[in-house]
Amino acid sequence: MADTENLAAGRSFHADVAQRHEPFRLRGCGSLDWGMQSRLARIFRPETGRTVMLAIDHGYFLGPITGLERVDLSIVPLLPHADALMTTRGMIRSTIPPASRTPVVLRASGGPSILKELSDEQIAVSMEDAARINAAAVAVQVFIGGEHETQSVRNMTRLVDQGQRYGIPVLAVTAVGKELTRDARYLRLATRICAELGAHFVKTYYCEQDFATVAAACPVPLVMAGGKQLPELDALTMAYNAVEAGAAGVDMGRNIFQSDTPLAMIQAISAVVHESMKPAEAYEQYVRPAAQRAAAGQEGK
Ligand code: R5P
Repeated sequence: MADTENLAAGRSFHADVAQRHEPFRLRGCGSLDWGMQSRLARIFRPETGRTVMLAIDHGYFLGPITGLERVDLSIVPLLPHADALMTTRGMIRSTIPPASRTPVVLRASGGPSILKELSDEQIAVSMEDAARINAAAVAVQVFIGGEHETQSVRNMTRLVDQGQRYGIPVLAVTAVGKELTRDARYLRLATRICAELGAHFVKTYYCEQDFATVAAACPVPLVMAGGKQLPELDALTMAYNAVEAGAAGVDMGRNIFQSDTPLAMIQAISAVVHESMKPAEAYEQYVRPAAQRAAAGQEGK
């Protein structure tokens, strides 16, 4: 039987105080459903509106590339420093500890390997399975200008429809084929198409010229892709320039896990993204000391 003692009438109604309402501040996401906003707030830190996503989904078309041979050894220790982990359901179920507090952005498209035409992707995960995995979002590749452009856009719009039903946001990843130029004009086209057709956030490459116009023209959060490995200071500078130009964070892979000092590198990226720390300062504070310890053969690089 329910406890019925001490049920005095409440007195703290504050009838003269208007109900508090905290607006959801993430760009373009104020009208989304509560579950969708809640998931996005797990990926984008509410205090900065930015994210450091760690991308390790490369194996879905590239196999075990350098740095991802043993995800249990190389990536799991980095998880506490990532705001989100972008990976595949196979890697999640086989290797990522369910007790990890790091939200998952689940790779949801796939099909062709690096040996075939990459734009020929299909949806590779059901939204039901994404919910079962407790994904904070799903990610789909969109090949604007690619051979299978329409099919990849259709993959995205189908996932958006399903995501709306389940409250799971969709990240559109703009994939730039070798034949296309990664300039602001192309990136504006690709990111805007994804946002217009319903992507809840968009991932794209950085360009030196006019990246701010790419960010400005995308009405939902834009995260910068890392790309091939650069010297650490250059990668930090690229991340800094992207967020200062309006990106809501980064989704970086090789520049973190292929670094000689991955733990220091993700910490440095996080300082740049969330604290607007200058790249040289982040390098000196995190990367150089770790590189020196590694060179001296000490543990805990
Ligand atoms: C794009 O194809 C995938 O999401 C990649 O796994 C991701 O973009 C790669 O990250 P990065 O280029 O920083 O290694």
